[in-house]
Amino acid sequence: MKNDPIYWEGDVTQGKAVIIEQTKLPLVRQLLEIHSAEEMWDAIRKLKIRGAPAIGIAAAYGVVLGIRGEKLTLVADFMARLRQVCDYLASSRPTAVNLFWALRRMQDTAARHAESGVAAIKQILLAEAHEILAEDRRRCAAIGEYGQVLLLDGMRVITHCNAGGLATSGYGTALGVIFSAVSQGKKVHVYADETRPLWQGARLTTWELKEAGIPVTLICDNTAAFVMQQKKVDIAIVGADRIARNGDVANKIGTYSLAVVAKAHGVPFYVAAPLSTFDPSIHSGDAIPIEERGAEEVTAPTGVPIAPPGIQVYAPAFDVTPACYITGIITERGILRPPFQEAIGKLFSA
Ligand code: MRU
Repeated sequence: MKNDPIYWEGDVTQGKAVIIEQTKLPLVRQLLEIHSAEEMWDAIRKLKIRGAPAIGIAAAYGVVLGIRGEKLTLVADFMARLRQVCDYLASSRPTAVNLFWALRRMQDTAARHAESGVAAIKQILLAEAHEILAEDRRRCAAIGEYGQVLLLDGMRVITHCNAGGLATSGYGTALGVIFSAVSQGKKVHVYADETRPLWQGARLTTWELKEAGIPVTLICDNTAAFVMQQKKVDIAIVGADRIARNGDVANKIGTYSLAVVAKAHGVPFYVAAPLSTFDPSIHSGDAIPIEERGAEEVTAPTGVPIAPPGIQVYAPAFDVTPACYITGIITERGILRPPFQEAIGKLFSA
């Protein structure tokens, strides 16, 4: 599809992953071919591909690229090498749990087929990466379907960062809800937070919505409270990078402030995320590792300095919104409501 953020071309030995180079958007829509695990690590690290579900898919293809040239013939040696490749890819970014979820799944798949021999396992891993991508398409479609009932005709939605097609397999979670509502004939207007420091809202969310013909107004992050006070927003919907068992949500830095001002203004605050973004091993948001990015992303976001040289910077890429600020979590299995501890527990024990 035209704006698929990632796809595979070719067979297991000669093939490559192709991504939309997201740091170039919206000025240039450039495709980037990825031929090795190292190139995939770099693409994830530098946000050439980003967004939790897309990172998971990228990591799965990264595994294939990392092991396909292996000459090892003993399955045990191959498995050890596979583990090394997965550990390496896992070091690219720490917060989005989809990355670790996909790497675990690739290793489990290989282990289940250990009897098949190395050549077959390589093929099976490529098929599994394809399945992770295809599954994400189904999950996002279902999230859209469940979530669109929240949007009545004429509603105004605020969102933060980019939880659209670019951040997933092509449809999106938070934006998927909006695409789905629009496909039902509802009119929706979106306020997109610009999302400092890297402007995923300004660069990517507005681009996606404009391409889809959905009206969007770009606002600076610090305008969100004011548009709510002016009664211009009916609902907030954002994505997630990791959701703890108690419903605390890690998402792009600034999500927490948005949730707090939403509560202060009586605006319902929803999170849209697939089950691959839940981390049932973590009790609360306190245990979620938060990525810190380089100072230059804040001091010179376009390469041009906007702060005095050498100034001290703190640049967490994500924050944690406590569950008490969240009205509901839209998943591919339906909308979870508080108490989230109970709802999430049920979902994962089912
Ligand atoms: O640093 P990024 O651009 O990878 O951060 C992305 C986000 O925070 C998204 O909101 C989140 O991954 C959900 S994507 C469906």
